[in-house]
Amino acid sequence: MNEYVKIFDTTLRDGEQSPGASMNVEEKVIIAKQLSRLGVDVIEAGFAISSPGDFEAVRRISREVEGPIVCSLARAKLDDIDRAWEALKGAPKPRIHTFISTSDIHLKHQFRMTREEAKKRAVEMVKRARGYVDDVEFSPMDASRSDAQYLYEVLEAVIAAGASTVNIPDTVGYAIPSEFGELIKGIKDNVPNINKAVISVHCHNDLGLAVANSLAAVMNGARQVECTINGIGERAGNASLEEIVMILRTRRDILNIDTKITTEHIHPTSRLISSITGIMVQPNKAIVGDNAFAHESGIHQDGLLKEKTTYEIMRPESIGLSQSTLVMGKHSGRHAFKTRLKELGYELSEENLNKAFERFKVLADQKKEIFDEDIEAIVAEEILRIELPERFRLEKLHVASGTETVPTAMVEMFIDGRHEKETGTGDGPVDAVYKTIAKMTKTKSRLLKFSVNAITGGTDAQGEVTVRLQEDDHIVLGQGAHTDIIVASAKAYINALNKLEYKKREKKERVV
Ligand code: KIV
Ligand code: ZN
Repeated sequence: MNEYVKIFDTTLRDGEQSPGASMNVEEKVIIAKQLSRLGVDVIEAGFAISSPGDFEAVRRISREVEGPIVCSLARAKLDDIDRAWEALKGAPKPRIHTFISTSDIHLKHQFRMTREEAKKRAVEMVKRARGYVDDVEFSPMDASRSDAQYLYEVLEAVIAAGASTVNIPDTVGYAIPSEFGELIKGIKDNVPNINKAVISVHCHNDLGLAVANSLAAVMNGARQVECTINGIGERAGNASLEEIVMILRTRRDILNIDTKITTEHIHPTSRLISSITGIMVQPNKAIVGDNAFAHESGIHQDGLLKEKTTYEIMRPESIGLSQSTLVMGKHSGRHAFKTRLKELGYELSEENLNKAFERFKVLADQKKEIFDEDIEAIVAEEILRIELPERFRLEKLHVASGTETVPTAMVEMFIDGRHEKETGTGDGPVDAVYKTIAKMTKTKSRLLKFSVNAITGGTDAQGEVTVRLQEDDHIVLGQGAHTDIIVASAKAYINALNKLEYKKREKKERVV
């Protein structure tokens, strides 16, 4: 293989800082396993000291996910570094990523430190981390707004102290590509021991330049890019993994650098992230948007029919999108289902496969054509359902509504394994169902958001309902898919209630 750029995925850490994108530990483990299949070099699994949930996610991913380096973020503080190590102990390839700001603006107003103090602290904390692991990454936060000379000094000092990766963040998404490329070149030319470390970059998208800046950095010598699936992250997000990877792949002719990503897993991974976080991908998003490979203009379609390369610079299959999205129907067997899942990037355990196949059969009875998106929805729901302990489970639902009827719901559920049945009314069918379920489960959550999306085309398409619920300081997202959108609504609501229960229990267990 030629020279390659390491892909450092921070979906589980910076990505989780997207407003409303919090994920529970089980979900993070599932995502980490998918990231490993995708072939990322490093998974930033969390910020161990920031919460018990983050600690547990780093701890479990360290033990359960094979392949990539597993990393925890830590401020340049003793307790942070010690806690990161506690969480990472079980990882075959652990990395501690420590950071402190180097810009005068941050040092003066936020850290209230002098440049010398910050440099000294950075060196001490890198040494502390090296006491635990060989693989230490250091980030001078707000590097793009830092004094270049001072930045060089800090980098030289932390490399001498044992940092093997120095990550240059454009924390506030302020840089432009020519300037950021120059900054990386400046580091290469002016930090005497830079050949002892990998230069990494971490760009935010406030001006829509995160990917362009990362690319400029790679063209000037950076050999690790920090990014997230679908570009989620703090504020306007981080550089999008799929864009970076596909740029390097598609323009290898001039860039001559690749990654170790198995690009065929990109699309399933993107779906998994939007399904877990509830953050939908805009249709015109590069690479993974619904329209990224859709050709509308007649002239384009004509060209494509004659020769694909007329208007297609990447093959849809290269990111895991099949050419014909119609895959299966009610006569498809378990083997075909398993094969299709594998093509989509999912290798399920026997138990998960059986559950998913049962759901597939039920769906195939309701819907003539099953599309890849249907299969992905089944997997997302079935895997998560298996991993998430369920206090509440929907058994049966009957709803009456219409222009002349008071909307009424009859709900049968299993609550802590006990079968219960209740009837209730509401202002509409969803309201009737939600009020009845709330009464049965004795829960008092607030519905912050409700949205319904057709997964595919056709009037028999599955509706995917997403709800956001709040109870005290817990906010969770629930999802459910079904050809009947009222059933999908009930499933989404119950999924969110189970997550709330999980969060409440997690908090209680951690306090004692
Ligand atoms: O944006 C940033 O500066 C960060 C650092 C912690 C690397 O996320
Ligand atoms: Zn960041």
